[in-house]
Parts: sequence; structure tokens; C-alpha cells
Amino acid sequence: MNDVKKALTVIANWKMHRTISEAKKYVTDLAPLIQGSLSQVYLAAPFTMLSEIAPLCRASNIVLGAQNMNDHDEGAFTGEISGKMLKDAGADFVILGHSERRTLFHESNDFVNRKVKKAIDVGLVPVVCIGETAAERDSGNTANVLSYQLRYSLAGVNSEQIGRIMIAYEPLWAIGTQQAAMPAVAQEMHLFCRRYIEDQYGKYAAEKVSILYGGSVKPDNAKVLSEQKDVDGLLVGGASLSVESFEKIVNFPNGIL
Ligand code: PGA
Repeated sequence: MNDVKKALTVIANWKMHRTISEAKKYVTDLAPLIQGSLSQVYLAAPFTMLSEIAPLCRASNIVLGAQNMNDHDEGAFTGEISGKMLKDAGADFVILGHSERRTLFHESNDFVNRKVKKAIDVGLVPVVCIGETAAERDSGNTANVLSYQLRYSLAGVNSEQIGRIMIAYEPLWAIGTQQAAMPAVAQEMHLFCRRYIEDQYGKYAAEKVSILYGGSVKPDNAKVLSEQKDVDGLLVGGASLSVESFEKIVNFPNGIL
């Protein structure tokens, strides 16, 4: 285990939580607590509050983003939001292919891929989520599932563009279950993803791409997970909803207590 202090990327994924006034309070409360952090904080907020909290995030060095987008710039897609609209509202990144989108809203790798390419086009950093189910892991299929998701979600992305995306390894059995992956398992899967990127895009791209871990990250496991060599950051759902626990996840790994 390395006790290396590294600049982590820590993303709060609020999912479908928060009103505008709650969001403003959260950002205002969080900002002073993360000021000295080596880690870069990202906040994936619901669409409705993006433009409202964008100035607060900018002033606090928090990178603001969204949790999904459509693959078109505009058109007859009732209820959808485009990457262009997200940029306009103040977003700089977007989570794509989250397992809740893939399972509850039936998003295919192909659809995720079109969104990834559109996000890059409009200047948003895509955070592309992949991960296996418990059944896929138990049947020894994890490697196949991850490489299939990587191949088809990233199809057509070139080696220069790959340096501008992030990959989030989020095993479905760990999301919202209080059972994070064991650090060694996270490391093994992250190394697998990095080697996949190296095979497809070369060594330089593999070094540049950020691979984040997500799934039941809490203050008490953030440090050991982020100490793993190939873990470049954390994607935090439930524990990002409280300023108190999220601040610890951001600050603990680098020893700021
Ligand atoms: P969790 O969610 O931290 O609540 O497990 C992570 C995610 O879904 O991104």
C-alpha cells in the first residue's frame, strides 16, 4: 500500500436529491472546508440547479457537472437536455452511462457512446461509468463485461480525446449497498481498465486517463481505496449528500483532518 499523497478527483453524485436553496447552502458550507485540499472536487447536480449554483462553484473551485445528457444538440426529444444546454448552464463535465441509467432507463453502450462523443464535441468532460453485476462477477465474467462496456462506450474516441475523459469503475453490487469493493479488488479492476486503455490507445493515454472508483465510498474507506495505485479518484453517491461526510472523503485521503 502506498501512503502517497496524490491529487484525487472526488465527484459528488447527488442523484435525484436537493432543491435549489438546499444546493446553495451545501456549496456555501462545503467551500471553506475543502479550500486547502489537494483533491479536486466535482459536483454532479440535478439539471434544475446548475445555473443557480454555477457562480458559487466557480468561486469555490468546485467543478460543476450534470448526471446525464442527450446525444443531440436540440430537437424533438421531450424531456431531454443537451450537452450544449449543460454548458450554457455552467456545467463542465457530465456523468454518462451510470448503472442506474443503464438498468432503470435501458441505456445501451451504443447510446452511451453517442453521448460520450457529443460531450467531447461540446467541451464537456465525460465521466463514463462501467461495472459488473454480482451475477457477472460470480460467474467469472467481470473482465469480459468491463472490456465490452469500454469497447462499445468508447468506440470512435481517439487517443487524443481519451485523455479528456474519465472512467468510473462502479461495480453494481457495491452501489448503495454499504459494501464497497475491497481495496485489492478495486485496484485489480482499475489496473485491468488501464491496461485496456493502454492496449487500445497507448501508454501515454493510459497514464493520462483518470479512473475513479464508485460504490459505497464512505469516510472510513476513502483513504484505503484512494491509496490504491490505479485509483485516481472517487465517485461518491449517498455519502456525498451530507457536507460532513463528503468533506471527510475529500480531506482524509490526503491527511487533512
Ligand atoms: P453510492 O453511489 O456511493 O451511494 O454507492 C455511487 C454511485 O452510484 O455513483
